[in-house]
This record gives sequence, C-alpha cells and structure tokens, in this order.
Amino acid sequence: MKRLLTLLALMLPVFSGAQSLTVSHLSETHTLVQVSGNDRYVLLPVQETAQEAAVKVLSNGREVYKANVALAIDKTDYLVPLDLAPWAGSSILLDIKMTQGRGVRRDPSDDVCWADMATAATVDRTNKEKQYRPTYHFSPEWGWMNDPNGMVYKDGEWHLFYQWNPYGSFWGNMTWGHAVSKDLVNWEPLGAAIVPDALGDIFSGSAVVDKDNTAGFGKDAIVAMYTSAGDNQTQSLAYSNDGGRTFTKYAGNPVIVAEDTPDFRDPKLFWDNQTRQWKVVLAAGQEVQFYSSHNLKDWTYDSSFGLSYGNHNGVWECPDLIRLPFEGKDKWVLLLNINPGGPFGGSATQYFVGSYDGKTFKCDDLPTTTRWMDYGKDHYAAVTWSNAPEGRTVAIAWMSNWQYANSVPTTQFRSSNSVPRDLSLIRKGKEVILKSTPSKEVEALRGNPVQHTLATAPVELFETPMKAYEMLIRFNLQKKEGATLVLSNETGEQVVFSYEPESQTFSMDRRGSGAVKFSKKFAAVTTAPTQVGGKMELRLLVDSASIEAFGPDFCMTNLVFPASPYNILKMYGNTKADVTLYPLSK
Ligand code: FRU
Repeated sequence: MKRLLTLLALMLPVFSGAQSLTVSHLSETHTLVQVSGNDRYVLLPVQETAQEAAVKVLSNGREVYKANVALAIDKTDYLVPLDLAPWAGSSILLDIKMTQGRGVRRDPSDDVCWADMATAATVDRTNKEKQYRPTYHFSPEWGWMNDPNGMVYKDGEWHLFYQWNPYGSFWGNMTWGHAVSKDLVNWEPLGAAIVPDALGDIFSGSAVVDKDNTAGFGKDAIVAMYTSAGDNQTQSLAYSNDGGRTFTKYAGNPVIVAEDTPDFRDPKLFWDNQTRQWKVVLAAGQEVQFYSSHNLKDWTYDSSFGLSYGNHNGVWECPDLIRLPFEGKDKWVLLLNINPGGPFGGSATQYFVGSYDGKTFKCDDLPTTTRWMDYGKDHYAAVTWSNAPEGRTVAIAWMSNWQYANSVPTTQFRSSNSVPRDLSLIRKGKEVILKSTPSKEVEALRGNPVQHTLATAPVELFETPMKAYEMLIRFNLQKKEGATLVLSNETGEQVVFSYEPESQTFSMDRRGSGAVKFSKKFAAVTTAPTQVGGKMELRLLVDSASIEAFGPDFCMTNLVFPASPYNILKMYGNTKADVTLYPLSK
C-alpha cells in the first residue's frame, strides 16, 4: 500500500515555477515534462557538478532532438535555453532520464531542477562572468567552446563557427555555434548553426563559398563539411543560402567514410587552382589524408602525409593546408594540431613547410624535424579563414589546452579564442618559419598611447588598473645581454618574462600568476627560441584571462587568472626599455 501511494505521488503532475510546464515523475529516474504555451525556450537549470541527464525532445510524439544536460540536483548554477523554434506549433514533451546510479532510493521531486525549470520568450544574454570574461577575444555567450570551425569570409562578413555545448560549460553535445563580424573583433552571436542528428554529434570542420554552384546547392552557397561523430566518424555536408543564418544538411550524408579508422575527422576544404578541383585534408589516425572532388559531394582519395614526420606523441587533429608567398614563389604549409604531445604538455599546433602539386604534400624538412606554431600552452585547433579578402591568410586558435580546459575557473562559459593572426613565411637563418602577427583589425582597439621608460623602479601602468591592454616594449641590450620583466598586480600575483642570452630563449612563467591550482598541469614556464641581445621588440596583448606574446620570430599564448588586473611592470637587469602602452577597448 505504501509503495502504491509513493508511486501515485510520483505520477501526480507537479506544476513548475512557470505554469506552462507539467512535470510527471514516472519513476525515480524517469520524468516527463509537458510544455504548453507559446514561449520559444525552455530554461534548463544546470548544476555543474551534477551527472548529466539524457533529455529527449518529442514533437507530436516523435523524438526530434536529444542532449545531455547536468540538470540541477541541489542548487542551480545557471539556466541554459533549449530553443523550441524548430518545432513551433507542435506538442512538445521532454522525456528526461537521470543517469543510472544517480538516485539510489531518491525522491525525484527533491531535485531543484523541476522547480527552477521555466519557459521564456527571450534569452537572458547578460554576462554573469565579471572577472574573466575577455574584453576583445571571442567567447561564447554561455556554454562550453572548443575548436574554431567553418571560418569563411563572404559579403563583408567574417563567419566564425565553433565547437559548442549550448547546455553546459563542459565538453559535450557538440554543435556548431555561430558568430559573425565585420572587423574580426566585434562579434555578433547567432546561436546554433548545425545541431547533432542521427549520424552523430557535429565535430570540427570547415566551410567554403561555392561561387560556381559546383555542388548544386545554389550559387554562392556556403558549404560546410564537418565530422559526424556517431559510432564511427564520417564526413558530412550542410549548406546555407542565406549567409550562414540557416543550414540544410545534405540528404546524401555522409560523403566520406573510411573503414577501420577510428580517428577520422576535422575536414578542411580548399579550392586548388592547379587542378581546378575542391580538395579536403583531414586527420586520419597518425597521418593526414587528401581527397579531391568536382562537386563537393563525390570524393576521391589522393594521398596521405605524415606517418614518419614531426611529433606523434598524441592524436593528430584539425589539419589545414595553406599556400603562402615566399621570396617570389609559393610555398605550402600544413598546420597540424596534436593532443597530447605539445612542447609543454597537452595540446599544441605543429606545422610543416613544403610543396603541394594538387595531389601530394611534400615536406621540405627532414622527417625528424618538429616545428611549433606557438610556444605557449593555450593555442590549439588553429585553422584559417577560407576566401579571406586581399589574399590574406588569417588564422584563429582555441585559447585553451585539453589538459585543463574543462576546469578553468570561469562561470557561464568556458574558453575563448586567440586574437586573429595573419600568417606569413619568413627566413630565420637557414630555416623558413611561419610567423603569426595579430591581424591589423586588433590595432583599431587601441586607445591613446602612454609612454613609459622602464628601468629597475617599478612602473604603474594605469592610474586605475585595466584588464585589456597592449604593450610594445623596445629593448636596446648589449649583444649578449638578457632581460627580465615582471608584470604583477597589487596582491603580488605575477607573470615573469625572461630573455636568456645563454639559451637564446624567451620564456613566460605563469606559476605565480593567480589561480593556478584548479589543475596540476596549469602552472608552467613556457619557452620559445629567439635571438636575444641587441635591439629587440616584444608585443604583449593582455586581456582579462590571457597574455599573448609576439616577438619577431615567435609567438606564445598563455591563459592567466589573476585576482585583479596586472598593473605594475618592473624590469630586472642593467638595462632600460621603452614601453608604449595602449588601453584596448571595443
Ligand atoms: C580537437 C577535437 C577535434 C574534434 C573536436 C570535438 O580539439 O578533438 O578533433 O573534431 O575537438 O569537439
């Protein structure tokens, strides 16, 4: 009898905060939520530490979507919107299964998510992360972000898609989020562009403008190729005829499959003028593979590269093949992201310089050579924009590291991107190296410059400390002399930059930079080879939670989480330096 009463109690509808949700607990772990009314969104309460529940959306009784959401058990950290627009006008039921083992002898109505769940006509887009929300780096309004995807320039707009979890600040539910910009620094968020389906989650990929309608999706359609990550990884297409605002998945998906290749992903499309064909380069285990096509739908395998080349201490991911002018000729650079195996642990971007004849990539270096694109810990999944204007090659990287990306101390969102960087090839001694320069658009953020001369006395940078600024530091050292700079805040948290003449290196030490204990892998000193001594220039881009350092022959990207902005700069050594300081704001 008692059991019957309990069961009855479980099944009785419980009205949630908003009257348009009817909650029925069918068992300890299975709950139905009937949605009524015309609101566009259901706000799902998330507790970061809760185990994920499987949420299925049923429209007129048919399953149309599913996502894993850490529904709140004892406290709601934040609400995430589930957008019902695709099924507007139908009867919506949420079928929710709490994770097995989550509730042993539990009363499901105790979970706070049922009372905190609500419907809403609009989404609250206000920023709740006051401390570490970047000022001028792209970050998602909410949720988790990793790789930049599908970057393409069209009709004056820079499109940025990205690996997004719209339902929590940790990896999962991989969806392409979307934002557009006219100037590479001000981004308009456009929500979800491509969402998971029966073929799997939407992993990384790329996009092109099909100017000649080779695919038959429409002239000037934006065509995206991404990895469908289901039981196996395959490559699929989606296209847009309205400037990336909506995408239609190709009915013939998937378009590239491989047998027995578990890590088979991250297709980067490009147009090859030599063969007048579309090409794709993708990661396949410990190599990259090239394919050709006339219509973006039918693909022929061309060649592979990489088995014995470069670093293999991790999974090969997110390749990109770019053509760059060098001393009057063209060279080809293969960008290749690897995780783990980076020079300071975890993820990093390596590259190979060589030639490409429309079928095969040949590397100029010996197989044993490994080159890194950035010498920090937080530069990953770097790829370039397709169709960029003025012949530019513009790259952007995810500014985090798989070692700790899921535990960095931000709320509401996790991860931001690097500043966009124009790529070029330069000579360094006998070598040809890839140089990353902050895109010129970043300079438009500069406010009035302040000039400082730096000697051993500490310099206060701003009267009121600022989170976002740029410093150009010019050293005039003796030939074999080094220098050390310490950037600190009022609580003594500091980042130390050192030029070492013996090792001819530049390093950044973030071990005392602020919050570092959230992961054992975070505190680190990162080092780059560079020429030390004589006249040197260092450019530092500082934001709420990152420092990007650019020298003439290196770049270094590192996250930092100070309690307050760094506002004091001190120099050690017998020398002086001139500092031009720009506040940066949008
Ligand atoms: C790289 C990566 C890609 C994959 C995506 C999934 O960070 O692992 O290889 O497509 O993230 O989110």
